[in-house]
Amino acid sequence: MEKTAIVVGASDGIGKQTAIELSKIGYTVVGIGRNKAKLSQLAKQLQGKFETIQADMSLLSTTAQVATQILEHYAQIDLIIHTADVLLIKRQETSEGHELTLATNYLSRFLFNAILLDSLKKSPAPRIIHVAAAGMPFKLNVKDFPLPQSASSFKGHTVGQLANDYYGIMFSLKHPTVKINVLNPGMVNTNIRKKTESNFLVSMVMKMMERIAKPVGVEAYSHSVVDIALGKNQEANRTILINSKGKGIKLSKGLQNTAIQEHIWEQTEQLIKDQKLLKTTNQ
Ligand SMILES: NC(=O)c1ccc[n+]([C@@H]2O[C@H](COP(=O)([O-])OP(=O)(O)OC[C@H]3O[C@@H](n4cnc5c(N)ncnc54)[C@H](OP(=O)(O)O)[C@@H]3O)[C@@H](O)[C@H]2O)c1
Repeated sequence: MEKTAIVVGASDGIGKQTAIELSKIGYTVVGIGRNKAKLSQLAKQLQGKFETIQADMSLLSTTAQVATQILEHYAQIDLIIHTADVLLIKRQETSEGHELTLATNYLSRFLFNAILLDSLKKSPAPRIIHVAAAGMPFKLNVKDFPLPQSASSFKGHTVGQLANDYYGIMFSLKHPTVKINVLNPGMVNTNIRKKTESNFLVSMVMKMMERIAKPVGVEAYSHSVVDIALGKNQEANRTILINSKGKGIKLSKGLQNTAIQEHIWEQTEQLIKDQKLLKTTNQ
């Protein structure tokens, strides 16, 4: 049967390559990105049935509109892959008042999945994949979330990446019929670091990091994302957090803290409800 995959952040990097591979193996692909020219390039590389949607997914109101639009066109969704993210040096806020990196790499994902959950549950093998930075050696505390107004973009980005881990754990408890994985790609050769508006010091640090870590190619990494999506990676079928080698990551004590898991979930839901974007607690 025909399968539909939604890739958020499909105009570049891991998302783009994964969207191309999924279309090659027969998925109907809906690729979402913010850049029109890049989406046109993507469209030339997608095969079979596909759709591209230009949208700024750092905005929760836009995220809700896009998810609703998808819901109207696709009765069943089999796979959602989130890769949208940005690295910033200076704090920037969205027009909705959220720190921009956290809004992109976490808040938007939470809302998008919530709106599409019912159509995902119609799939015989539904799956969500968040490409983030699973298993970072830090934990979140109550005071980290909601993110304080004064928080830097670095803090916002880190909290967003960590919140993906807590989200994956809570989501799998709430919705055991939907498989969810949060991935840590390690270092992959994409443009994410090059897009950072940078100064001399930052670009030197980025170059040094790349020299030491020797990034893997985006094609190779995207193959492993597709394996997970297709249920071929048995560890990813059993474990939520997955490292760059496709192996399961053991949950740290911090991540096992149920009070923090619940706090982050509830606070995220509240932030979204405050914007009147989530009508019911359907998650
Ligand atoms: N690459 C790595 O080494 C690495 C390491 C650790 C974690 N990760 C994680 O892996 C994920 C994918 O990263 P990547 O390396 O593939 O990055 P990338 O090449 O920069 O791709 C990110 C994608 O997200 C899109 N995007 C960003 N902001 C958006 C917005 N507001 N609305 C819609 N789309 C937006 C980008 O659009 P544009 O094309 O317009 O920029 C791009 O298509 C991220 O979550 C990242 O944190 C990557």
